[in-house]
Amino acid sequence: MDSDFYKNRRTVEKYIQMAKGFDGRDLIQKLKLYLLPHSHVLELGSGPGADFAILRKDFNVIGSDYSTEFLNRLRMRFPKDVFIELDAAKMDTALTFDCIYSNKVLHHLTNEELECSIQRQYEMLSANGIICHSFWKGSGTENFKGMFVNNHTEASLKDFFSHYFNILELSSYKEFETEDSLLYIGSKKKP
Ligand SMILES: C[S@@+](CC[C@H](N)C(=O)[O-])C[C@H]1O[C@@H](n2cnc3c(N)ncnc32)[C@H](O)[C@@H]1O
Repeated sequence: MDSDFYKNRRTVEKYIQMAKGFDGRDLIQKLKLYLLPHSHVLELGSGPGADFAILRKDFNVIGSDYSTEFLNRLRMRFPKDVFIELDAAKMDTALTFDCIYSNKVLHHLTNEELECSIQRQYEMLSANGIICHSFWKGSGTENFKGMFVNNHTEASLKDFFSHYFNILELSSYKEFETEDSLLYIGSKKKP
């Protein structure tokens, strides 16, 4: 569900300041248990690029975001890398990957958008493809600084992903507070 927060220069600057010091290095360490070095990875919602900087050390990664404001900054920061404009709700691209990764992005999607995104991710992945996504843990939806937030539980993530993916890891972790976040790593089911 759309909001201007990530598309407006002033609020993007605010977000970058707020997010300083946070990155997904622990999540990426877990992903590395399942994904071969040099695999082709798509990152959704790269934002300031903290996780992109870590992912690119081990993988052939393409970054993406639906925000031109973030994409302009990412292209300045990583001039030799590839970034595409991509809405995670629609996944409107013909590119294919071994892994699709996101850190705190898919919680901005409604249930219907998440269902559509998951189906497209399945279609975009190679035969042994992997997904790795983090979410805020909780119930219901909320409005945070004008942004739509869809919280999830272990049970809801199982429901959303189980048609297309086998669980490799589904665990709680701490971003700001104990067990406020969920990590889902899954492997593509055989057709
Ligand atoms: C909470 S930030 C996380 C950014 C980055 N992954 C990180 O961990 O710092 C959410 C990011 O997802 C992007 N985003 C939100 N909704 C999106 C959508 N529907 N499609 C693609 N990107 C989206 C925002 O522009 C922003 O960069």
